[in-house]
This record gives sequence, C-alpha cells and structure tokens, in this order.
Amino acid sequence: MLKTVADAVPAADAAPVQIRIRGVEKTFAVGTQKIVALQDIDLDIRKGEFVCLLGPSGCGKSTLLNAVAGFQPPTKGTVAVDGRTITEPGPDRGMVFQEYALFPWMTVAQNVAFGLEIKGMSKPEIAGTVERLLEKLHLQDFRNRFPKDLSGGMRQRVAIARVLALDSPILLMDEPFGALDALTRRTLQDELLRIWEEVGKTILFVTHSIEESIYLADRIVVMTYRPGTVKRDVLVDMPRPRDGSAPEFNRLKRELSQMVMEEQQRFSQDEIRSVTAD
Ligand SMILES: Nc1ncnc2c1ncn2[C@@H]1O[C@H](COP(=O)(O)OP(=O)(O)OP(=O)(O)O)[C@@H](O)[C@H]1O
Ligand SMILES: [Mg+2]
Repeated sequence: MLKTVADAVPAADAAPVQIRIRGVEKTFAVGTQKIVALQDIDLDIRKGEFVCLLGPSGCGKSTLLNAVAGFQPPTKGTVAVDGRTITEPGPDRGMVFQEYALFPWMTVAQNVAFGLEIKGMSKPEIAGTVERLLEKLHLQDFRNRFPKDLSGGMRQRVAIARVLALDSPILLMDEPFGALDALTRRTLQDELLRIWEEVGKTILFVTHSIEESIYLADRIVVMTYRPGTVKRDVLVDMPRPRDGSAPEFNRLKRELSQMVMEEQQRFSQDEIRSVTAD
C-alpha cells in the first residue's frame, strides 16, 4: 500500500523547541522482572505546538508524560524544558489527569482558586482570574457546587480551569476526555482548541483515540508497545476545524489504525503469554 502520511519535519521558520527529550529510557522492576517501558525516545516539541501521543494500552504514554511532568524521572536520558533539565514538577508544566483530580471538599470556584493561593496572589487578583476562567469554561452557574454534584464533563472543565489558572506555558494532558460520552468529549475538544488558539500554550496530549488525535493535533507521535519507542511522528496538515468525514481525515485514520493495530497485536500476544506463564 502506498504510504501517504507525512513525517513531521520542522519548517525553517518553526518556533523554538520547548520540550527536548533525548535518549529517554525508563525501566521498572516488578519482582525479578525488568519492564522496559520506554527506550531511546528522542522527541522535540516546539513552542505552541499541539502534539498527541498515541498508542495502545501499556506502550508508555503516561510514563513519558510523567517524565516530562517531573513526577517520575527517566532511568536514562534527559527531558529539558526551555533548556533546563527536568528533575521535578514545576509551575511551567500544568497536568490534567484522566480522573478529574479535584478536591471534593472545595467548591468549583475554590478548586480553581487553589493554586493561585499557593502562588501568593492577592485576593482581588484571585477573584478576577477565577471569574475569567469560570466564564471561559462556561462554569459561572456552577461556582458554588461541589465536584460530587457535577457531571464528568463539568468536572473535567473545572480541572482544565484549575490548570489554566496557573498559567503554565505547557499543558500535559493524560487522556483527559477518556471517560466522557462522545458529545461531551467533542464539546471539550472544541473548547480546548479554542483556548489553545487563544492563549498559545504548548500541549502534550495522551490519547488512545485515533480520531481524537487527528481532530486535535499538529503532530501525532505513534508509540510502539514494549519497549515504548517512537514508531512514527506524523504531521497533521489539515485546517481546523477538521471534518471527520473528509477523505484526507479518513485516509490518515486508516493509516494510523494500521500502525496502532500492529502494536495492539503485540500487546495482546504479551497478555496471552503472561496469562499462560501464571
Ligand atoms: N510504577 C510502575 N511499576 C511497574 N510497572 C509500571 C509502572 N508504571 C508503568 N509500568 C509499566 O510500564 C508500561 C507502560 O505503562 P504506561 O502506564 O506508561 O502505559 P500507557 O501507554 O499510559 O497505558 P494506558 O493507555 O493503559 O494508560 C506498562 O507495561 C506498565 O505496566
Ligand atoms: Mg496511561
């Protein structure tokens, strides 16, 4: 089959590299077994880019994101942000998790304000920022609710508002919309794209969903399964908003499906091997 996907090659006038990943390897010891979760990862993410990490379960997407976040340093290699090697979490990188990490005892407004109090912002400044973000994410009418009284989509909006409040130049998102129904997911994807275009952040976004990655990303980094390496770095050169029924959307979807399927099969074989070894 003729390959039509284009590898991502930076243009001469491309923005500077903001996240530089070099020779990253991550191994975990599980009993006597050594699991190589990541190996030889080299990746550059430019300022303002929207990059998706795509791959089947267990291929190391979260491990790579956690290394960039500074939660779990790599075993080998380096991650640098704006030229500084990452050794711990920092205010330059905001993280949104799949499982709405909100404080259940705080209201929506208090959850959004939380990081700002820690940052030492004055009360009027905090109030102004919270108001602006509640409006941006259509949460004004929910400001005094507690997380348990919100739908999944609303809770994820609060999580995004809270990260945006910190105003980190980099957003790291680990399957943030994975648990949502299709309609809510599309609405939040559109809101995220609108915010990204408005505020010009760099986004590294993990997903299982091929469609989601094509809908959102400038580039899609497809990962292999164990060890997790970069299989392809694909450019998505389509104007936004993208039409899921357009021929070029579907062509890319078919080719990415094939790449992910190859890795998914390796994952399934591994699962069978581990069950039969028990
Ligand atoms: N703390 C840990 N201890 C041992 N093994 C781990 C640990 N974290 C991750 N792994 C292993 O590393 C590999 C990559 O895991 P990771 O969670 O990064 O995958 P993923 O691509 O995010 O998967 P998913 O799509 O299911 O979230 C898996 O084989 C996993 O079992
Ligand atoms: Mg994961």
